[in-house]
Amino acid sequence: MPHQRLSLSLGYDVVLAEDFGGLAGELQACLPGSTRALVVTHPRIRALHGAALAAELHGVGIEWLEVPEGEAHKSLDTWRALVARLLESRPDRQVPVVAFGGGVVGDLAGFAASTVLRGLPFVQVPTTVLAAVDASVGGKTGVNVPQGKNLVGAFYQPRLVWAPLATLDTLPVEERRCGLGEIVKHCIIAGGSALARLEADAPALLAGEKAAFAAAIADSVAVKAAIVERDPLERGERALLNLGHTLGHAVESVLGYGAVRHGEAVAIGIVAVARLGVARGWTSPRVASRVEALVARLGLPTRVPPGTSAGALHEAMGFDKKRARGMVRLVVFSEPGEVRLESVPEGELGALAELGVSA
Ligand code: GLY
Repeated sequence: MPHQRLSLSLGYDVVLAEDFGGLAGELQACLPGSTRALVVTHPRIRALHGAALAAELHGVGIEWLEVPEGEAHKSLDTWRALVARLLESRPDRQVPVVAFGGGVVGDLAGFAASTVLRGLPFVQVPTTVLAAVDASVGGKTGVNVPQGKNLVGAFYQPRLVWAPLATLDTLPVEERRCGLGEIVKHCIIAGGSALARLEADAPALLAGEKAAFAAAIADSVAVKAAIVERDPLERGERALLNLGHTLGHAVESVLGYGAVRHGEAVAIGIVAVARLGVARGWTSPRVASRVEALVARLGLPTRVPPGTSAGALHEAMGFDKKRARGMVRLVVFSEPGEVRLESVPEGELGALAELGVSA
């Protein structure tokens, strides 16, 4: 597969690559003279792909910094330990921090890179579909705190995103599928050919075909990149990328971060918003059915598991960052490609929760 490259006006490229071949040259081109790299990863990814990365970067002195795996470790404690390790390795401001893993690794490593010496160069090497299409692009970094998810962090753009598709081979099927939740979101935002291609490729994606994933990831990154280029600091349009996340975050918090994957929770959130749109007259039943059918065809859930309390979901949405004076801003859509923010009374979140639960 030839590399697919997207050059962002934010000053970096996103490269979808077959594997690691070419990464060393790319690093030299965007960070000339780097002789060391501080690679942040977790033990499983290092065991699976560390040797291949090290072989490609043999001319660069790699120092491995391992963090524990899982959303539960995207915390201030892990960040503190990582910052201490980074400082112990005595970097100067030319030494890049390379995030090698999924979204948790990327968010943690990026936040640490943004703070150590007031900013070390940062490179993303995402190893999951979810991280390739979402977390690695656009510069959102940070950690979870008891008050909520991603509430402490920084916008800190990487200098390069290199997505090696070979790492998808070792990704559990459910993890690969979960990335499709964010891809659905991007394709609804874009509408048009991106959504049509996703619909047509649903069987190939469900079967795990690499070429279909490469195309879906490329489409999805293009959608996200265009939005973050126009609105890197989420002053406006970027908030559209929260489609499905109001309920999605609540689903994750109520069911527990291990029990549901992020992309699955987002898929449930998107379907609930579509159903709310039908109830409020924003969305036609035809569009809502199309979206729900796509989510189901991709093997993603359209509802929370039976027995989940709508009240608990509603309460969990109380910590949502989009809340202001009793109103919430909800990302809704009328058609694919026609996505907007709608200001609704907070009570509407109760209706959204009910729709995520009901058959
Ligand atoms: N994940 C949404 C954003 O990057 O804005």
